[in-house]
Amino acid sequence: MKNIYSNIFKVNNKSLSKAINYLKKKDIIGVPTETVYGLAGNAYSSTAVKKIYYLKKRPFKNPLIIHYHNLKQLKNDAEFNINFSKLYKKFSPGPITFVLKKKKNSKISNIATANLKTVAIRFPKNKTLIKLLKAINFPLAIPSANKSSSISPVSAEDVAQEFKNSLKFIINDGSSKIGLESTVVDLTAKPKILRPGFIGLNSISKTLNKKISINNNLRTIKAPGMLKRHYSPGIPIKLNQKKAKNNEAFIVFGKKYKKAKNVFNLSYKSNLNEAAKNLYKTLRLIKNRNYKMICVSSIPKNGIGLAINDRLNRAAK
Ligand code: TXA
Ligand code: MG
Repeated sequence: MKNIYSNIFKVNNKSLSKAINYLKKKDIIGVPTETVYGLAGNAYSSTAVKKIYYLKKRPFKNPLIIHYHNLKQLKNDAEFNINFSKLYKKFSPGPITFVLKKKKNSKISNIATANLKTVAIRFPKNKTLIKLLKAINFPLAIPSANKSSSISPVSAEDVAQEFKNSLKFIINDGSSKIGLESTVVDLTAKPKILRPGFIGLNSISKTLNKKISINNNLRTIKAPGMLKRHYSPGIPIKLNQKKAKNNEAFIVFGKKYKKAKNVFNLSYKSNLNEAAKNLYKTLRLIKNRNYKMICVSSIPKNGIGLAINDRLNRAAK
């Protein structure tokens, strides 16, 4: 077998034009975003979109996020509204995804939107990805570049580990700045957060000048992908633990925990942004070291801490 890292290419004009060719040919490639690495394909092409689902082994009922570089490109695909305008102005490009009504004449593949009447859209901030989007005349469907239900990738190497040689091309733009997926906010009715992320509940409430709810009720949740176990390292996880045995991995937060071989501190300085950036990297490291059990200390639930706790809860399911 070829070295699994031989499909990783650093950012330069040659690799970007190769990437553009792949996308134009309805092939799929690994791309950087500011949140996590993604698997990108032409959102207007069912052929490309199907390749994404097959490679990820993702159930077809779980829709994809469609990525754009400007509003003009989006105009024919989704219906704008006032809440969208406000949040777009404040947070885009950046780690926020908007669920809007899909236009009837939209060219987005129905497979990408799981036959829903809505569409999730995002304007990523990563410069390399923006360059790619500007060079093609279609938006990109980009889910996180991991096998369905496993840990999201935060580096090109993580993507290569997920798909080995079944993915031909990955662009390496260093480690993901944020390290946790975008906040998903449903704007088709009363604004509601479907998936917590880097942009917190309070900043969204403040921008819209109204109270926003978080959809925590798994039975009525609108994002099908959020129902089941997700972000899982495939090892049992115990949350809110005060200590761990020597043969268990112990994920902690803050300086009150002693350093040891099995202790993985998400942020010694108790910085939640740093902890978010380290979360998936740490879970992957622990998985690669073959631990059989993971204990996690309590982690504050304010700001991006809410998103960290959300991912840990689902990884522990
Ligand atoms: O940060 C991110 O958003 C990353 C990067 C690569 O952009 N992408 C990402 O995509 O996290 P994915 O496919 O791993 O997660 C997309 C989430 C899923 O929970 C899905 O169910 C939800 O968005 N979603 C997509 N379309 C939706 C829709 N029309 N209504 C409700 N939820 C939707
Ligand atoms: Mg994902």
